[in-house]
Amino acid sequence: MDNAAPFSSTDSQQSLKILFAASEAQPLIKTGGLADVAGSLPPTLRHMNHDIRLILPAYPEVVERAIPLKEAATLYLAGHTEPVRLLSGMLFGHLPLYLVDAPELFGRPGNPYVGPDGHDWPDNAQRFALFCRAVVAVALNQADQHWQPDIIHCNDWQTGLVPPLLHHEGNRPATLFTIHNLAYQGLFDQAIFQQLQLPSELWSHEGLEFHDKLSFIKGGLAFADRLNTVSPTYADEICTSEFGYGLEGLLRHRQNRLSGILNGIDYHYWNPAADPYIHQHFDHNTFELKQINKQQLQQEMGLPQNKKAFLLGYVGRLVEQKGIDLVLELLPKLARIENIQVVLLGSGMAHFEEALSDASERYLDNIAIHIGYNEQLAHRIEAGSDCFLMPSRFEPCGLNQLYSLRYGTVPIVRHTGGLADTVVDVTAQSLLDGSATGFVFDHPTAPALWEAIERAIEFYHRPESWWQKLAVTGMQQDFSWPSSATQYVELYREAILNPIPNPVR
Ligand code: ADP
Ligand code: GLC
Repeated sequence: MDNAAPFSSTDSQQSLKILFAASEAQPLIKTGGLADVAGSLPPTLRHMNHDIRLILPAYPEVVERAIPLKEAATLYLAGHTEPVRLLSGMLFGHLPLYLVDAPELFGRPGNPYVGPDGHDWPDNAQRFALFCRAVVAVALNQADQHWQPDIIHCNDWQTGLVPPLLHHEGNRPATLFTIHNLAYQGLFDQAIFQQLQLPSELWSHEGLEFHDKLSFIKGGLAFADRLNTVSPTYADEICTSEFGYGLEGLLRHRQNRLSGILNGIDYHYWNPAADPYIHQHFDHNTFELKQINKQQLQQEMGLPQNKKAFLLGYVGRLVEQKGIDLVLELLPKLARIENIQVVLLGSGMAHFEEALSDASERYLDNIAIHIGYNEQLAHRIEAGSDCFLMPSRFEPCGLNQLYSLRYGTVPIVRHTGGLADTVVDVTAQSLLDGSATGFVFDHPTAPALWEAIERAIEFYHRPESWWQKLAVTGMQQDFSWPSSATQYVELYREAILNPIPNPVR
């Protein structure tokens, strides 16, 4: 047993014991930005001398990439007949890692949430309920680790059952639940609630029930000691009916424990001055070298090598959230303009993939599309584009606009969530005071996006130094992790000092 008394870590200098639970983490497994965060916030906190450990499901890719691993414990978990192995290892040589190894649930290669047919795995409730129970066992020092965290940092619905399962435990660690995306909630039929053998008192409107369904995310929202989202604006937006999916009442009820902390980005991995995936390194002093990356990108994507071209890039999941339909609507119009090129990389909904492939065949000279997931190409698109398109309908934080800023690629974004918090629109005033970093538009419509693109094109044709100043201002913004990580530590301490006493009623 650890001799230190639990929850003693309230002195602002004292190191905290943190268990960080997530369903994906870069570089082990990634479908989106959650993996970027889970792969970069914990190492930052480790560098700040906190005793942080990361826990993930043991998907095959993860096990392969995390070797060497050892068997740390055998767990006997409610609702699950087989014993579950807890594996332990080390990530980046300094970050302790736990993997929950239940081969019948996690031993499937590929996307962690959906099968090869593109549909959710039918047993996702069982898979992530088991993951939550394993997290709870580690949290309560019931996994032979002689270690009890002060706080569990839960992320998204896959970890949503952790706070309610811990709630009635005496001597429990504090909990923080981070909402990376409220649109994904982990909703299942009521019968599943019985099958999972969850405590019956959790089936109520104040508990996990949501319109007769079992909601994993509600567990996090209703029972965590503190809640946060990944940008201040999204924290406000989810308290409204437009963005709250019917959960806005609960969120408003918990608003005094809800805040927003902007994501940081990994400044080593996303660094145009040292990125191994790009052809020409550059920084804010050598911005003109970026042009070489544009030519290389044109070549790689089979576009004419046109120095005069204004190149718009897009990288992202092909789902409505990202406003990809607005981009699709504008492709014919963009293709008609001389010296405009568009490069898109993404995967997602079949109808978007098909429509994009059609467009690239039709407009060979201007539009190049790569359907699929390609980490290295994503870096080269960031390095080679003049502007980055991110017309999201909602965006809890968004990382690609931050990568774009870092790579001198001027973002064109909709005024929502983290996009509103990180990009300063080009206006007479912002140009004058030197704060402009991108082009921002309001309405999620193709004409509004078009207007922003036109403004960008027009600005690109002003004296070259104007564009350079705009791009370089973006490159000089600081969205590295340390400042956001410090805010997380403050939030951890608040949760530890001021836990919720009873179930929220
Ligand atoms: P979200 O998490 O909603 O998908 P973010 O902007 O927070 O959006 O993060 C997306 C992350 O996933 C970024 O690191 C982005 O580069 C990456 N990404 C998305 N789609 C692809 C793709 N097709 N190929 C490579 N990287 C991708
Ligand atoms: C989600 C959001 C995205 C955010 C990411 C990481 O997937 O859609 O906006 O950047 O999580 O927090």
